[in-house]
Amino acid sequence: MPLAPRPEDKFSFGLWTVGWQARDPFGDATRAPLDPVESVHRLAELGAWGVTFHDDDVVPFAADEHARQEHLKRFRAALDETGLVVPMVTTNLFTHPVFKDGAFTSNDRSVRRFALRKVMRNLDLAAELGATTYVFWGGREGAETDAAKDVRSALDRYREGLDLLAQYSIDRGYGLRFALEPKPNEPRGDILLPTIGHALAFITTLAHADLFGVNPEVGHEQMANLNMVHGVSQALWQGKLFHIDLNGQHGPKFDQDLTFGHGDLLSAFFLVDLLENGGPQGVSPYDGPRHFDYKPLRTEDVAGVWSSAADNMRTYLLLKERAAAFRADPAVQQALLDSKVAELATPTLAAGESYADLLADRTAFEDFDADAVGQRGYGFGRLDQLAVEHLLGAR
Ligand code: GCO
Ligand code: MN
Ligand code: MN
Repeated sequence: MPLAPRPEDKFSFGLWTVGWQARDPFGDATRAPLDPVESVHRLAELGAWGVTFHDDDVVPFAADEHARQEHLKRFRAALDETGLVVPMVTTNLFTHPVFKDGAFTSNDRSVRRFALRKVMRNLDLAAELGATTYVFWGGREGAETDAAKDVRSALDRYREGLDLLAQYSIDRGYGLRFALEPKPNEPRGDILLPTIGHALAFITTLAHADLFGVNPEVGHEQMANLNMVHGVSQALWQGKLFHIDLNGQHGPKFDQDLTFGHGDLLSAFFLVDLLENGGPQGVSPYDGPRHFDYKPLRTEDVAGVWSSAADNMRTYLLLKERAAAFRADPAVQQALLDSKVAELATPTLAAGESYADLLADRTAFEDFDADAVGQRGYGFGRLDQLAVEHLLGAR
């Protein structure tokens, strides 16, 4: 089976994924720290195309300027040796205690000013390394109690911060696009911009709205009990899918960041079908990175880290293969016809038809047999069963 990852698959990983030491609220780290340079080499060996990072993943928060340059030199050398690209960069605005009430939306103005400076320094680095996308995940932008946060002011400050950073990137000629990553909760009790829909609505208020899109994560939408495929479809429909975080999650509970597919497998299948085949529309609508944002299980040793990294890519490619077989299957094509899936792409009024014409069309209403049409089955269950059978390798 041709399942070895290739550069054109555009698989990328965050340094913080394989580098997670598996510290959780109840337990200590179960794995030793990984040198980012080693991670770059191992990811390249496994067939990844790109690597992404938070500033603090490469240069520890407390490093002075000299140490910072040394860390960056080693990191750049690893990129040069392996040919790995840096398609996306992001900022850690959540680990240090200074960000305990958020970064751009902290009640403390001095924290907000510090956060902007931290991002500006990292935008310089992102541009230097050739990144085209910059992600904002506002994990600490939120609250535990409604008394503590003036949400309307928080959104003003969020917008102020993002407007400033976009202007900075424009003035420096960095050519970056920005992707907001929604998450409903964790680490804050409630996080601002909790879903794809909230983020899309917020983006319309930004000064440079055209430069902003979303970076949806499978598990985050599913934590909110939402349908990732629908959310990604709407982001695509609005031209706003700038990046994507692939992983797995078992429904609404704490953020699991499982290996891609190790959760709602059928949803993962339809997500890959959407990204690769365009779903029913038949044209791939997304050519950006296939970025894995997962955490190797806390139970695994370092060998398990690298095997799970490979598993993300293998599962994606397996799903891609199954999705292609699903689309090519004559039984599926017949079932799609029976279910009128393509008919939804036909406008409800004919070209040039007006509402007056619709009012004059007796077949649309007066002579329409709603009872008879209401009796017709759509056959959607058959479609779902065919998808399951393709997933199981039964067809
Ligand atoms: C999460 C988030 C984070 C962000 C990443 C980028 O799982 O809560 O996905 O992993 O994506 O930190 O800032
Ligand atoms: Mn997550
Ligand atoms: Mn993520």
